[in-house]
Amino acid sequence: MIKKLYLIGIGPGDSKYLTLEAYQVIKRLDLFFIPDKKGKKEGLTEARLALLKKVKGEEAFKVIPLPFPERPKSVNYVEKVKGWRSEKAKILKDALSNYEEREAGFLIWGDPAIYDGHIEIVREVAEEVSLDWEVIPGLSAFQVLAAKERISLTQLATPLAFHTPRTLRRLKEIREPTVVFLDNYETFQLFKEQDLTIHWGAYVGTEEEVLLRGDLGEIVEEIKSLRRKLKEKKGYLMEIYFLKPKEA
Ligand SMILES: C[S@@+](CC[C@H](N)C(=O)[O-])C[C@H]1O[C@@H](n2cnc3c(N)ncnc32)[C@H](O)[C@@H]1O
Repeated sequence: MIKKLYLIGIGPGDSKYLTLEAYQVIKRLDLFFIPDKKGKKEGLTEARLALLKKVKGEEAFKVIPLPFPERPKSVNYVEKVKGWRSEKAKILKDALSNYEEREAGFLIWGDPAIYDGHIEIVREVAEEVSLDWEVIPGLSAFQVLAAKERISLTQLATPLAFHTPRTLRRLKEIREPTVVFLDNYETFQLFKEQDLTIHWGAYVGTEEEVLLRGDLGEIVEEIKSLRRKLKEKKGYLMEIYFLKPKEA
């Protein structure tokens, strides 16, 4: 069994967003586990490999792609995701047990604590076998979006909300500044009658970055047509946005 596993937040896709700590840990290790993204999302595997090559340079290292199943789409979402995570924990545990007394890294997009299940997955593994593990924080996509847009996400005496479409679509209106991850459904359009500013970004922080901002009602169709074009061109869309009530 692996002696110690580092869950390393790698930022939103470009090595320039690696923290110094993440850089140093990657530099020191020579064994890495990554989720094996197939088909349209293969680009995400390639981005992780490119980042490793950039940090390791000429040094030899080994990458073990893990054949994790796709996230289930289901009405019993919470239960299904728990089962999905347990499946992944088993795959990870089997992979880790192939390597004795070595340290290894597991590369995680953005920050491991934001909309990512690997902390829970590794905790599940560590409850079953003897495994030391550590989380190395990374820059999350929402932080890079805010920096690119030169905006402060928090406002005086106002909470900051985080949503995915599953919870966003339950809201009647956006009352506070809101960051939205993982929206494949154009959920922002439910709020187009409200007086909101949207800051929208695709592939934020990478060479393919596209940013748009403005009054939601005015640019909603522009965002919809842009996201369809980008999706068609690249096969998948990494997008994130920030909705802000005008009076907030
Ligand atoms: C599974 S979540 C992982 C989030 C990640 N842990 C983080 O801290 O950014 C994936 C979602 O993060 C957002 N995301 C991650 N990287 C992005 C990027 N470079 N540009 C835009 N959105 C990004 C998208 O909403 C994407 O659907």
